[in-house]
Amino acid sequence: MDLYKRVLRPLAFQMNAETAHHAVFAALKMGFALPGSGWVLQGRGPAYESPLEAMGLRFRNPVGLAAGFDKDAVLGDTWADLGFGYAEFGTVTPRPQPGNPKPRLFRLVQDEAIINRMGFNNAGADALASRLEKMHRRDLVVGVNIGKNKDTALEDAASDYLKCLQRLHDLGDYFVVNVSSPNTPGLRQLQDKDRLVEILSTLQDWNQGQSVPRPLLLKIAPDLTDTQLEEVAATALETQLAGLIATNTTIARTGLRASATDVEAIGAGGLSGAPLTARAGEVLTFLKQIIQDKMTLVGVGGIMEGAHAAERKAQGADLVQLYSGYVYRGPGLVREVVEALRGN
Ligand code: FNR
Repeated sequence: MDLYKRVLRPLAFQMNAETAHHAVFAALKMGFALPGSGWVLQGRGPAYESPLEAMGLRFRNPVGLAAGFDKDAVLGDTWADLGFGYAEFGTVTPRPQPGNPKPRLFRLVQDEAIINRMGFNNAGADALASRLEKMHRRDLVVGVNIGKNKDTALEDAASDYLKCLQRLHDLGDYFVVNVSSPNTPGLRQLQDKDRLVEILSTLQDWNQGQSVPRPLLLKIAPDLTDTQLEEVAATALETQLAGLIATNTTIARTGLRASATDVEAIGAGGLSGAPLTARAGEVLTFLKQIIQDKMTLVGVGGIMEGAHAAERKAQGADLVQLYSGYVYRGPGLVREVVEALRGN
């Protein structure tokens, strides 16, 4: 019997989505405080081993937790106990900020989808640094996804990204520049050529001067046109990024089972989960043609089962990440995806 789908998910889905998220975090935190709990869940067992190297880092397996699930690294090393090869914390901003007013997180259960307009609610770079300092990091590659505060002008965005990178540089194995969230006004305009070059070269100039430069990646929106994708990929190559992450959530609302009235009532936000599977795969395929083997590609968006991850690998992904699939399918999805990518 699938305990998650039959018991835990219905319980969690009775709660409002954000309350459920916090309840699951509290339960995991408590559960993993008990001795032997990691062993019971077997997140560290051989089923999760499928080592690879990417961006000069060694991953125990190619399956990561996507950004936004644990923005402040509250669960830290627990993600390794749950079987992930890596976890991407953030999006973090230089200063703490509350995010948008609630409600701001919604499930479309029929569609196996989520709409969110969280707006980078996070405890800030100092708080993330103190959590990362306390981690043991055995078996877990740590990614840090960085953003800008809502009240920082777009013209000053580069300095916000740089502050995050500088504060957290020693504590992250790789860093992701997030200019693709739909929930911070104007943020996605930072994907425009001139602004993007300014941000990425500011970060690289500083990063490359450090004794251990970190791999820098860029996370991309699925709503860009082919021409925009070409431009972004060219900029990423010019600024010598280590990789691209495709994709963030979409502002599109096409192909949903939920009624137009229900969807409209939810309002603005980024859509993720099953309705994103096809588009995220398309974007990845398009990027792969341009960048070939010159950068690492991370596939994320609508990976709801092992087969979706295997397809993403065939389309060119070196690594994958899960968010909505983890909510709808539960912890068993990590193992399923590791095995699908291994070819079992
Ligand atoms: C996200 N995502 C996200 N991405 C990011 O770069 N920074 C963030 O802070 C967040 N926050 C966030 C919150 C919530 C509630 C969701 C559902 C998503 C996007 C996420 O990392 C991923 O790119 C998309 O959700 C697509 O993957 P899935 O969910 O379809 O597997």
